[in-house]
Amino acid sequence: MSFDQELRPRQPRKLIITGGAGFIGSNFVHHWCQQYPGDRVVVLDALTYAGNRKNLEDLEGRANFRFVAGDICDRALIDRLLKEEGIDTIAHFAAESHVDRSILGPGEFVRTNVVGTFTLLEAFRHHWIENGRPNDYRFHHVSTDEVYGSLEPDDPAFSETTSYAPNSPYSASKAGSDHLVRAYHHTYGLPTLITNCSNNYGPYHFPEKLIPLMGINILLGKPLPVYGDGQNIRDWLYVGDHCSALDVVLHKGTAGETYNIGGNNEVKNIDLVHKLCELMNELAPDLPVRPAQNLITFVKDRPGHDRRYAIDATKIRTELGWSPSVTVDQGLQRTVEWFLSHQDWWQPLLSKEYQEYYRKVYA
Ligand code: NAD
Ligand code: DAU
Repeated sequence: MSFDQELRPRQPRKLIITGGAGFIGSNFVHHWCQQYPGDRVVVLDALTYAGNRKNLEDLEGRANFRFVAGDICDRALIDRLLKEEGIDTIAHFAAESHVDRSILGPGEFVRTNVVGTFTLLEAFRHHWIENGRPNDYRFHHVSTDEVYGSLEPDDPAFSETTSYAPNSPYSASKAGSDHLVRAYHHTYGLPTLITNCSNNYGPYHFPEKLIPLMGINILLGKPLPVYGDGQNIRDWLYVGDHCSALDVVLHKGTAGETYNIGGNNEVKNIDLVHKLCELMNELAPDLPVRPAQNLITFVKDRPGHDRRYAIDATKIRTELGWSPSVTVDQGLQRTVEWFLSHQDWWQPLLSKEYQEYYRKVYA
C-alpha cells in the first residue's frame, strides 16, 4: 500500500454479498459487518438447501444490513438492487458448491454457477457504465482451486498461471464462471477480482462436506464413509483465514488479477478423519461408539475423484502481505468445539431431503 493510500481515510462501501446465507458467505458477512460497521451490506441469497437465514440472525434489524431472498439469475431484481442501493461492490459467493451433488445432477450447477454469474456480470457492467465507469468499483468472484484439476504427489502446487483442467461438473461450472469474469475485465475493462481457494472448514459448514459429515456421524455413532483408499489430499483453509484473505484482496488487489488462497495445510483424508476422531474422543462426553476410529468405513470412490489439491500462495503473500494464521490442528479444535456447542444449528439440517440425498450418495 502506498503512503498516500495509507493516509487517505477509508470510504464506506456499499456491497451486495451473494450467497451470504451459505457457509463461507455467512462467515464473510459477519467478518465484514464487524470490521466495517459503516458499510452497507445487502445479502442476496436464494435460500437453497445450503442457505440458512439462521446463519445471519444476529445481524437482522441492524441499520446497515439488508437480507434479500432472491436468485442471482433474476436480472430485474439485480438491476433494481444495484440502483436503489447505489452498490459499488459485488462479493460473489452464491453457487452450487458440492461435488457429489454435481455428479448426481449437473444442471443446477450450470444454471447457478455459469448463468447466474453471467447475469450478475451483465447487470454490474451496465450499472458501472451508467455511473461513469468508476475505477474503485469491484466485482469479486469467489472461486475454487478445483478449476486447476488434480495433482500427483510430487507435482508443484497450483499457481495463478496453472492451466485450467476441471474434472467434475462442479469444477467445470466454476471454471466457466471464472472465464466469464476474466473476459469481462479483458473486453469491457470491468474492475474484477478472482480468488481461487482451497478447502474451507469451520462454523456454519453444511453437513454434506467431509469435516462436518464425519463430526456429526461420530456424534450419532454412524459409519464414517471414507472414499476409495483415503489417500486423497486436500489443503485445509480455516474459514476465518479465508475471510481475512478476501478482505485483503478486495482492498488491495489489482483489478483484473487472480489470487490463489491456501491454508498451507495439506492432509490426506484418512489422516484428517483420524485427527477428527481423536479430538472427538477427547472433547465429546457421550459418544455412542468409542473410540470413534472404530466407525471408519472405506466405501466406493467418488467418480472422477481428484487425487490432490495444493495451493502456491506466493502471490497473495508477497504482493498483498496475507498468509494463513490457523494450523489444521487449531482449526479442527475450534470447529469441533463449535459443532459441539451448536447442535441446535446442525440437527434441523439433517432433514428428510438430506437423508434422501445421503442414501443416494452412499448407496
Ligand atoms: P454453500 O453451498 O455453503 O452456500 C452457497 C450459498 O449460495 C447458499 O446460501 C445458497 O442458498 C446460495 N445460492 C445457491 N444458488 C443460488 C442462486 N441461484 N441465487 C442466489 N443464491 C444462491 O457454499 P460455500 O461452501 O459457502 O461456497 C461459497 C463459494 O465459495 C462458492 O462459490 C464456492 O464455489 C466457493 N468455494 C468454496 C470452497 C469450500 O471449501 N466450501 C472452497 C473454494 C471455493
Ligand atoms: O477445493 C475447494 C473445494 O473444496 C470447493 O470448491 C468445494 O465447494 C468444496 O465442497 C470442497 O470440495 P471437495 O470435494 O474437496 O470437498 P468434500 O468435503 O466434499 O470432500 C473432501 C475430501 O473428502 C474429498 O477428497 C472427498 C472426500 N470425502 C468426502 C465426503 C463427503 C470422503 O472421503 N467421504 C465423504 O463422505
